[in-house]
Amino acid sequence: MPSVTDLIRPDIANLEAYTPIVPLDVLAERLNLPVERIVKLDANENPYGPSPQALAALAAEPYYAIYPDPEHTRLRAMLSDYTGQPVARIVCGAGADEIIDLLLRLLLQPGDVVLDCPPTFGMYAFDTAVCGGRLVQVPRRADFSLDLPAIEQAAAETQARVLFITSPNNPSGNLTPPTDIERLLKLPLLVVVDEAYIEFAAYQAPEAERRGDIGVSAWVGRYANLVVLRTFSKWAGLAGLRVGYGLLTEELAAHIWKIKQPYNVNLAAQVAAQASLQDLEYLQANIGRIVAERERMLVALAQLPWLQVYPSRANFILCRVLDGDALHLKQALERQGILIRYYHKATLRDCIRISIGTATQNQAVLEALARWQVDRLE
Ligand SMILES: Cc1ncc(COP(=O)(O)O)c(C=O)c1O
Repeated sequence: MPSVTDLIRPDIANLEAYTPIVPLDVLAERLNLPVERIVKLDANENPYGPSPQALAALAAEPYYAIYPDPEHTRLRAMLSDYTGQPVARIVCGAGADEIIDLLLRLLLQPGDVVLDCPPTFGMYAFDTAVCGGRLVQVPRRADFSLDLPAIEQAAAETQARVLFITSPNNPSGNLTPPTDIERLLKLPLLVVVDEAYIEFAAYQAPEAERRGDIGVSAWVGRYANLVVLRTFSKWAGLAGLRVGYGLLTEELAAHIWKIKQPYNVNLAAQVAAQASLQDLEYLQANIGRIVAERERMLVALAQLPWLQVYPSRANFILCRVLDGDALHLKQALERQGILIRYYHKATLRDCIRISIGTATQNQAVLEALARWQVDRLE
């Protein structure tokens, strides 16, 4: 018998393994700190967690021994109220991540091209590779806006099937103006707008949202080639339960239903998401706290002359370390139990991304940054 690797798809066999995140308890042990002392600001999670109603609904659910609803009937009905889109244009997944995977499995044949615009979320590249596609990257401009002519050129040259646009973008935090998206929707490809963080941009901007200046979910159905991704991981604090959704045309949805695992969204996730949609006032108040803290952090970080701070409409802030070693900074914070994200790639060098935590956690970050600066100069 030859190596079993010979039985594996060669493109997967040659794929580089990704580095999994270290679970909180393992990390706490490694750092020799109690888990409660860890200030986890490296994955844009919600520091306030789920709504109490979601936790109560999880505890009260009597049917965990029964398979969950494969059509997510109740959740989709509630999402229809939440988004203003008809139920037939909503598909739920185990996180927005699963919708990315389903879309690419639906669209890609070996070698087909996917476009994304780095620096951006890594799952588009990951799923493209797993699905046998070819990723072509069109870097963002220095201010992280999209380079529209370059995208149009790449689309024409590669006959790309899909374009991913993240708005607000992770890790840069900026929104893409809907007018840019409107222009890109003229391209002969599927435009997937990932709005995982849109609730933080839309907070207290109902007028702008109504005008369509923030997100593009209202356009789903009007454009045959538009998909919008959303999630409960960020604004609703359910990252650990894995529940997200896509807004897409009935035509595309019909094909997704054919390839989706029937029980892709587990019962706990459905129960918690439904209860969250019934507790919007509570969750909106937490979004408000996060947005207020983001604004405070933007000002406080901008006081540090060795940091370049980028504006953000999401629940995190990207900073470039202008003087000093960004990796060293990340590691120094980690030793104190503060976790942030470090970037050092061709499209993003010497950068850190700090998720917005509670006021106490954010204060700990500011103090640790001030200490690092003093230690470094001594
Ligand atoms: C832009 C973006 N899209 C999607 C996701 C993943 O969402 P989910 O937890 O629903 O899979 C993330 C998570 O960090 C993200 O940053």
